[in-house]
Amino acid sequence: MPVAVLLPLLAVQENGRRTQPAQARNSSRHRIRDFGVGLLAVLVDNLDFDSIRRQFEVNAIAPLRLTQALLNNLKSGAKVVMMTSRMGSIDDNTSGGSYGYRMSKVALSMAGKSLSHDLKSKGIAVAILHPGLVKTRMTGFTDSGITTTQSVKGLLTRIDQLNLQNTGTFWHSNGEILPW
Ligand SMILES: NC(=O)c1ccc[n+]([C@@H]2O[C@H](COP(=O)([O-])OP(=O)(O)OC[C@H]3O[C@@H](n4cnc5c(N)ncnc54)[C@H](OP(=O)(O)O)[C@@H]3O)[C@@H](O)[C@H]2O)c1
Repeated sequence: MPVAVLLPLLAVQENGRRTQPAQARNSSRHRIRDFGVGLLAVLVDNLDFDSIRRQFEVNAIAPLRLTQALLNNLKSGAKVVMMTSRMGSIDDNTSGGSYGYRMSKVALSMAGKSLSHDLKSKGIAVAILHPGLVKTRMTGFTDSGITTTQSVKGLLTRIDQLNLQNTGTFWHSNGEILPW
């Protein structure tokens, strides 16, 4: 997928400058890292604890580690975006299962919320974003998903609107504020 789309998970935008997807790859002002693992159809009678641990490493610990590594390079006006998932919403969990994925995304959202408090005094805003249900490999390119282009368009709008007043908010890419 094109760079900007696929960057779900962690996006860092410096100086409050919006960067077009095509420019993002080489821009020194816009860094987006896309990674994440999700084993979605896992039930309680089919748990793999090594897989759950791995999902925590990739989905929750790695983005926090990356944020810490970048911190000295982020100036006032920079933005940090955690690409979490609606599946990491406890209120929204009406179907169960997907233990490692759901648990690791809750942890990521909590890291994003703490960062929003800790980085506010440095002038850095943090968003916790859900890209929507997107046609990607993770979802088996589901027919009910939106395209990556649609998702990224919404994500960039949310990033544009992110500021120190709304820092720490959990948004759907379509602008809906999601329950924790
Ligand atoms: N698609 C959705 O509907 C949806 C909904 C909610 C949230 N999200 C989130 O959006 C993000 C991207 O999801 P996606 O749908 O684009 O998933 P995807 O199609 O499965 O792509 C995941 C990407 O993460 C990379 N990756 C996985 N493990 C990695 C690791 N340990 N180190 C570095 N890169 C790694 C993969 O690299 P390789 O190609 O090398 O394996 C791949 O490029 C994830 O955080 C996901 O949780 C997606």
